[in-house]
Amino acid sequence: MGVLIVLYCSFRYTSSGAVGLLTDKRTMVFATRGHSYQGIPLDTQTGFMRTVLAFLGTEDTQFVYAEGTTIGNESLDASIQGARLNRGLGTHHKETFMTHRTLVRTIQSVATSDGAGVKLRRSIGTSPAARLDPFLMLDEFGTDRAEDYIAGFPTHPHRGFETVTYMLDGHMRHEDHMGNVGELTEVGVQWMTAGHGVIHSEMPQQKEGRMRGFQLWINLPAAEKMKPAGYKDIPASEIPVANIDGGRVKVIAGSFGCEASEISGPIQGMTTAPVFFDAELDAGKTFETKLPATHSAFVYSYEGSVCIGEHSEQNELAAQSAGVLSPGDRVRITANAVPTRFVLLAGKPLNEPVVQHGPFVMNTREQIEQAILDYKNGTLVAA
Ligand code: CO
Repeated sequence: MGVLIVLYCSFRYTSSGAVGLLTDKRTMVFATRGHSYQGIPLDTQTGFMRTVLAFLGTEDTQFVYAEGTTIGNESLDASIQGARLNRGLGTHHKETFMTHRTLVRTIQSVATSDGAGVKLRRSIGTSPAARLDPFLMLDEFGTDRAEDYIAGFPTHPHRGFETVTYMLDGHMRHEDHMGNVGELTEVGVQWMTAGHGVIHSEMPQQKEGRMRGFQLWINLPAAEKMKPAGYKDIPASEIPVANIDGGRVKVIAGSFGCEASEISGPIQGMTTAPVFFDAELDAGKTFETKLPATHSAFVYSYEGSVCIGEHSEQNELAAQSAGVLSPGDRVRITANAVPTRFVLLAGKPLNEPVVQHGPFVMNTREQIEQAILDYKNGTLVAA
């Protein structure tokens, strides 16, 4: 009997012993012995397998016997038929197969400045080739020097996409044409849908001390680029934290974890179905989560380097670089040093043409010209 067991979040330790987590799973055991041996006392492997699987919590175990080679072709055909039809194999062959994501490409960040001279590091979005559909840009700003941030981002427009600001340290104030005033403070998120148009400013509310955080730009599909602008402030208290072995994960968007335990962030239900986690790990500890298999995904470590998947030189991702991941429904990230902090972003690709002119991101040149004209004429933000 050949046995392959894939262990993933399959049990947890408690003070009273191990508790299996696979209670809602059907397990199929493909046994290459069986047939006339099936069910007779000599078939001890079956009992052994049931015991092992019960430890993981699974009670719904099906055995598919496919032996027949030693008793003639007729029996072989019969056992394959039996395996297919009588054991329901034909309807279960689409059971999940896990594929772990790997590191396929690195986009190094470059020092640049934006707004009225705020110093930052840009990775995703340093060039059109460095975008990762639907992600247009990721900026990390982090400094203790007031002169690097004090000029802020005075009044400027946006059209056609979403901006997400995530503050780790410091205090900025957002004000927009809709009359929204939002305080961007530690570990809070501002999720702004520019849509048809937003005119806003983001100015520091401190004259000294540390200012640190991220701004992420996520594209909107063609059908939503001209929708009314929207704005959402998410305070730290509304961002759930998952405690994992040797670390913690803030779940800003999407769902973190595995089937047995899942934590969902406050941002849900958008066309690009974004996933946004901020993780903190001790050295040598591993973070693992499921991800939608065909989402674009990248990791950006802002403190310490990490290893994506198996330990090897080509899987190492240095700090302050965006590591683009292969498709797959799982990702495993190991911290190389203390303290390691990284963000993991994933989103459904739009596969639409992108034409960008500064803060306007549309599908065609004509739409960009229209946006520039609308801004000049004062109709960018008109409903
Ligand atoms: Co802005």
